[in-house]
Amino acid sequence: MANIDIFPDVERFLSESKSLFIAGEWVKPIAGGSFTVENPANRQVIATVSSAEKEDVDRAVQAARYALEGVWGRVQPSERTRLMLRLADLVEEDAHHLGQIISLENGKPYTNAYSGEVVITANILRYFAGWPSKIEGSTIPISPRSGAQMLNYTVKEPVGVCAMIVPWNFPLSMCAWKLGPALATGCTAVLKPAEQTPLSSLRLAELIQRAGFPGGVVNVVTGFGEGAGAPLAAHPDVDKIAFTGSTAVGRLIAQAAVGNMKKVSLELGGKSPNIILPDADIIRAAKGAADGIFYNQGQVCTAASRLYVHDSVLEQTLDELRKHASAHVIGPGLDPSTTMGPLVSSDQYEIVRGYISKAIDEGAELICGGKTPDYLSDGYFMEPTVFLDKQEKACIAREEIFGPVVTVMSWSDIDELVYRANNTPFGLAAGVWTNNLQQAHRIAAQLKAGSVWVNCWNVVDPASPFGGYKQSGWGREMGKNVIDAYTETKSVFIDLS
Ligand code: NAI
Ligand code: MG
Repeated sequence: MANIDIFPDVERFLSESKSLFIAGEWVKPIAGGSFTVENPANRQVIATVSSAEKEDVDRAVQAARYALEGVWGRVQPSERTRLMLRLADLVEEDAHHLGQIISLENGKPYTNAYSGEVVITANILRYFAGWPSKIEGSTIPISPRSGAQMLNYTVKEPVGVCAMIVPWNFPLSMCAWKLGPALATGCTAVLKPAEQTPLSSLRLAELIQRAGFPGGVVNVVTGFGEGAGAPLAAHPDVDKIAFTGSTAVGRLIAQAAVGNMKKVSLELGGKSPNIILPDADIIRAAKGAADGIFYNQGQVCTAASRLYVHDSVLEQTLDELRKHASAHVIGPGLDPSTTMGPLVSSDQYEIVRGYISKAIDEGAELICGGKTPDYLSDGYFMEPTVFLDKQEKACIAREEIFGPVVTVMSWSDIDELVYRANNTPFGLAAGVWTNNLQQAHRIAAQLKAGSVWVNCWNVVDPASPFGGYKQSGWGREMGKNVIDAYTETKSVFIDLS
């Protein structure tokens, strides 16, 4: 492992025992519990963090309610814009520190943490910073039966206190996905980061404080799913919950939300089909397919985990995939030569290893990868792995793995291919590689997925909606659609007669 310099400011940040951020202050949890965060590249403890329980969640929700009905409710739209832009600037100023913190807690290469999370977080905040002054109602020409002259108009009001439960795969940008629209619409927030990666959220909380947001507008409670996430999802004074994570926990959240009829948005799992047509530029398609599955060690909800390659270009595609897999430099995220870091945790490592050995038992053909390099046995490293399972018999062809493992299948009939691609309980993303315009449009129209990428993969933009069909979720994030998810519409009738 290369000698890696950690910035003194990051060293200091990591060495301080972490509190919860509630009502604009750093407070210890009532029960006093804590847990440690480990570096998945070497299993060393890098920080100690407070463990929030139900009583702390109650305090945070109360602070969010108080801010919503008090100071934050009176802040003008233009001031919300100013604060959000200020926060985006602070994120950018702190980019190198944030990048290291993300890389240390999550494992991903520093350059990916920097460009794929920090820069994106600033972009998302800036996109949503433009919204506060543009959230408009309408005047509606109604026809009252009494014949009275009436004015009817609608107003979009903040939905209220929003709970945000985020995962560990994009620990910073997932916060921005949810805080962006919440702050733009005038909501307040209680954010619970994943227990594996709480540090970037805490760093963000420091920046939120420095940007000058009133206390209680954003609260951060670090803790575990059952201890802190579940009471947040069930809390009677939370108006909306936004969750990204596993489909299993998404189901629990939806059930918990029914208690007080919270509004719910869910971004869940995927098993996204990526389709290579015979006329595609195979060099480019195979590179796109490799990046689509190996990026972030495959721990991406939109990972291109099912690759459907036309029979006639199968061998060439496999050759290209082998090349891209072996070109990866596996190592700690802070090593500048690393292009693929470790998986996030021992749990995730065991899940991925389990799928690899099951795939071999079930008869899938291992094309490359499938092991932890010997010299990296200190961390949760896994080689980029390619399986061939022509007729998709193995469970790696159906279940979300959340690791750098792609299952390659072959096809010859286009109608059957579309059926196979859609034959999944998920519907988050799908891709098509072709130079045939008609085929591109026809297949894009037939795929049941929230994002369809033609000759590209993982293009996500704050201005464009993102979300899933079927069991990949409820609702859409980003774009103008998400504003509706964070607002209530009030219809006001005034009798003018
Ligand atoms: P998870 O769904 O358990 O964790 C995500 C978040 O939910 C974390 O903040 C966690 O603390 C919280 N959580 C867990 N249980 C909860 C509960 N009962 N109530 C409220 N909040 C709760 O995901 P996990 O266990 O980390 O990963 C398991 C699998 O989930 C992965 O292998 C992957 O397949 C999938 N996953 C999908 C993600 C996505 O982006 N769609 C992100 C993370 C995991
Ligand atoms: Mg879990």
